[in-house]
Amino acid sequence: MKTYVLNGVNLGRLGTRQTDIYGLTDYASLAEMCIKTGAELGLDVEVKQTDDEHELVVWLHRAADEGAAVVLNAGAWSHYSIALRDACAMLNAPLIEVHLSNIYAREEFRHHSVISGVASGVICGLGVDGYRLALLHLSSR
Ligand code: DQA
Repeated sequence: MKTYVLNGVNLGRLGTRQTDIYGLTDYASLAEMCIKTGAELGLDVEVKQTDDEHELVVWLHRAADEGAAVVLNAGAWSHYSIALRDACAMLNAPLIEVHLSNIYAREEFRHHSVISGVASGVICGLGVDGYRLALLHLSSR
C-alpha cells in the first residue's frame, strides 16, 4: 500500500534541534528508518519534509487522490492550521498523527492538535518509535 510519511515545519532540523526533547536521530536517519521499516512490512513508503505549509497541503491532496495512507507529523502546524486539518479530512485512507514528544506533558499550547479529530489514531511521546508503530499498524490493516 502506498504510504506517505509527511513531516512539517522544523522537522528537518532533527538531530540538532532541542535534542533533549526530540532525540538525537537526525531527519535523514528517520527517513531511512521509515523506508526500511516500510519495506520490511510490505509498504511502499515515501518520506517527505517541508517548511512550507502550501507544499504539505499539495502532498495531502495527492495522497487523497491516490487513496494513500498517511503518517503525519505536522510539527507546530498541528496546533493551529485549520487548512491542514481540512486537507487531512479529505484523505481516503487512514491517517496516523505522530509526535516525537509527549505534547500533553509540555506547554499548554501544545496540548491541543487540530489534526487529531480527523486522524484514525494518534501516537505521541515515543520518539522515532512512533513512526515505526504507525507503519506497523498500517501494514496490519
Ligand atoms: C512535535 C511537537 C510540536 O509541538 C512541535 O511544534 C514540533 C514537533 C513533535 O514531534 O513532538 O515541531 O510535532
